[in-house]
This record gives sequence, structure tokens and C-alpha cells, in this order.
Amino acid sequence: MKFFVDTADITELRSLVETGLVDGVTTNPTLIAHARRQFEEVLTEICAIVSGPVSAEVTAIDLEGMLAEGRHLAKISSNVVIKVPLTVEGLKACHILAQEGTPVNVTLCFSAAQALLAAKAGAAYISPFIGRLDDVGELGMTLIHQIVEIYDNYPDFKTEILAASIRSPLHVVEAAQAGADVATIPPKIFRQLYNHPLTDKGVASFLSDWQKTGQTIGRD
Ligand code: G3P
Repeated sequence: MKFFVDTADITELRSLVETGLVDGVTTNPTLIAHARRQFEEVLTEICAIVSGPVSAEVTAIDLEGMLAEGRHLAKISSNVVIKVPLTVEGLKACHILAQEGTPVNVTLCFSAAQALLAAKAGAAYISPFIGRLDDVGELGMTLIHQIVEIYDNYPDFKTEILAASIRSPLHVVEAAQAGADVATIPPKIFRQLYNHPLTDKGVASFLSDWQKTGQTIGRD
């Protein structure tokens, strides 16, 4: 499973990239607003930090606007992936941009039918929003299972399933169990994945016992 970081915070991103576990980045207009920085400037910086795919979302809602914004953003770096909403106009934009060779991430997916349409439109990624489905009393993970099952039936679909709106480490684990190709993870949840109090306790107790031996490794 690939790990993308869902952030426009450069400091957080740099720190996570140091782990060697980051395969890409996703952003959206809300994350850009939280960063309080100029979109294209942040996007350029992110693309210099991460060599993998970096999703940048259009804000136009009409086809011509989406195409103009998408083509503009795609010129910023060769690893930019254009993010469009799962609307009729978004699917048309996806089809055209994909035919031009620009990878597209179709976002705001809340149903298996929508995911089927995105694959047919040539999306490089489909982004089902797990957390937001959980928020309205539906099981977000069920959607991941449905999409995995559908895409597995059609090997000619090249669309990768990118589990989004992840709110907990359990979401990441369950998305991996379901067979999602990618999880895009907020920095806070990313750190929760590798932190465990029993690991910290174990390291402290091994260190304490080791110090009692008076030995060193490779320093004599
Ligand atoms: O990748 C989409 C994600 O940023 C949305 O997350 O928590 O706003 O539903 P959330």
C-alpha cells in the first residue's frame, strides 16, 4: 500500500518525508486555506520535496474552467496530479485531461456507482471519502470493499483506489485489509501509526538493562 500525506503544511511534510515512508501528497482547497499561503507557491515547494504524485485540486466547477486550471497546474511540475470533483463536469474534465496524458484524481466519491464512472473516465485515482461517510452514519469502509470488488472484475481499469478522509489508524489498517492501493493520511494520524506506548516502554526497559551490563556495541 502506498502512503500519501494529506497536507499543505510544509513543515509537517518535511518531517514525515524523513521517515522514508511517504509516497505522495494530496491537497485540497481547505488544506490550502489552512496553510494561509499562495497555492502555486506551496504546490511548487511540495513537488520539490516529494518526487511521487502530488494532487492539486481545481476550484472551477465548469468544464472549461476545470480544464484551464488543470492544464495550468499540471505545468508546475511533472508529478502534479489534477484533482477534480466527481460531478458530470469533473468526469468530462477527467476524460479530456487523461487523454492529454495528465493523471487525474477524481475526488469527493461517496458511492460505488461514482467510482465506476471515474474508472471509465480514465481517472488515475479515485478518492472515496471514508470519514465523511462515517460522519453521516454510513460505513465508509464498505465503499472501499465495493470499489475493490468492482475494479478487480475489470483488469482494464487502471484507476487506483485512494482511501481519503482518513480519521484514525484503524481506517488505514482496514483500507489496507480491503485492498485499497493508497491511503492519504493526515500528519497527526500518520504519527499515530508508528507510535505505541508499549514500544516506548519496551525501548526504555531494554536500554536500562543494557546500561547495567556496561557494554557498548562497536565502540571498543
Ligand atoms: O483527502 C480528503 C480529505 O482531506 C478530506 O478529509 O477529514 O476533511 O473529511 P476530511
